[in-house]
Order: sequence, then structure tokens, then C-alpha cells
Amino acid sequence: MSVQLARPGAELAAAMKPDPTWVAKETARVEGIYDRMAPRYDAIIAVAERLMVGDGRRWACAGATGQVLEVAVGTGRNLPFYPRNVELTGVELSAAMLARAQAAAERLARPVNLLIGDAQHLDFHDASFDTVIATLALCSIPDDSAAVREMARVLRPGGHLFLLEHVASRTSVIRTVQRLMDAPLVRLLGDHLLREPDTAVRAAGLVVDEYATTRWGVVSRLAAHKPT
Ligand SMILES: C[S@@+](CC[C@H](N)C(=O)[O-])C[C@H]1O[C@@H](n2cnc3c(N)ncnc32)[C@H](O)[C@@H]1O
Repeated sequence: MSVQLARPGAELAAAMKPDPTWVAKETARVEGIYDRMAPRYDAIIAVAERLMVGDGRRWACAGATGQVLEVAVGTGRNLPFYPRNVELTGVELSAAMLARAQAAAERLARPVNLLIGDAQHLDFHDASFDTVIATLALCSIPDDSAAVREMARVLRPGGHLFLLEHVASRTSVIRTVQRLMDAPLVRLLGDHLLREPDTAVRAAGLVVDEYATTRWGVVSRLAAHKPT
């Protein structure tokens, strides 16, 4: 486990808001990308998961308690890993991805309230959840800082956030490669390689309890809580 200090200037970058018109257009574009990708998503991500994720999904879900929100639930790949006694809600932008999550929940006989929604404007009251989880999600949400602020807002004081994400590496050679690949991947898949969720989480007022990176600093596990 390593808890790292925020980088100078990074909090400011996280607080800067992207243009709302760009966010709306990009959100609609990402929705279309995932609607089209949904039938192939599980096959595509299974390969990346073997290389990059390890037991990350199990890790992200293990600490879930009480009323749990999964943001950008996708096709429901985390559903098998939740403790049976949690009350689970999942939000997802793409109807085609959500339909697959619904089918997965039925196969697993896992009760879950699955809803279409936008992570950047969650349709829940403040302090509604004991745990919020997102995996491989912030990379594809146009305004990732807004999504993190929303996660913080809907968490109860004392509640926990768990993120498993691919992030900007702090190893300079890898980061250079990520910089080169970022623009083409954003254009093609809406996938951002240079995200820094730990910065966004701190800027949203949460306390980071655990932040660890693996796979040359490209995959991060972050656990945080909302102060009481
Ligand atoms: C790489 S997939 C990850 C899916 C799932 N979390 C997983 O771990 O397999 C990214 C997901 O984020 C969803 N997404 C992107 N932008 C979103 C938004 N603004 N609100 C909710 N979901 C969003 C996409 O539709 C897609 O299902």
C-alpha cells in the first residue's frame, strides 16, 4: 500500500471545469461508442483484464457495505464479486451495456437496481450511499472530476469510495507513450489514458486511505472515505 501526496498544481487542474457544451457532446458520443461496443465488450475487456487487472475487481467490491452504488456499471462484470448482503444500485450511460448487466444479474440471481444515468449528474440525494464503486470508468467519462464530485456528494459521511482505474503513469517513459496514444484513443473509443483520479478524489474533499499502482504505474487501486 502507498499513500502518495498530491502533485503541485494538480488540485488546481482537477478543479478546472471543462466546457459544458463539449462535455454534453462528448457524453453523447461516448454513449454511442458503448451502445455499439456492448455486444463485444466482454470479449474485448477479458483480454485487457488478464493483462492489467488481476484480482482488482474482487478488491474493489470486497469492502462494499450497506447501500452500494456502482457508477458506470457496464455489463455488470463486478456483480459476482459483491458481498451477498449489500443493497446494490448500478448506474450506466449506455442502454445496451445496461441490458447486458441486467442479463448478468439474472444469471447470477443477484438483486440489483440498474438505472440509466449520467455519472456527471447523479440522480440521487446527497448522502444516499454507504459505498461507491467504479472500475475502469473514469477513463471514459468526459468530465471525470465532475463524476468524482458526484460520487463524493452521494456518499454518506464516513462512507467509502473504491476505484480501480487505468491512469497516467508516473514513470516518464510510459507516460510519454501514453501521451502519444491518448488523442487517437480518445477519438476512437472515448478512452483517456492520462487521468489522475487520486487528484480528483482529494479535490472532491475525500480522504485517500490507500493508493497503489501496478503494471508500470498504469493501473491504480484507490480507497478513500468521506470525513464525518
Ligand atoms: C471501460 S467501460 C467499464 C465498464 C465497467 N465499469 C467495467 O468495469 O467493466 C466504461 C463504461 O463507462 C460508461 N460511461 C461512460 N461515460 C459515462 C457517464 N457519463 N455516466 C455513466 N456511465 C458512463 C460506459 O458506457 C461504459 O459502460
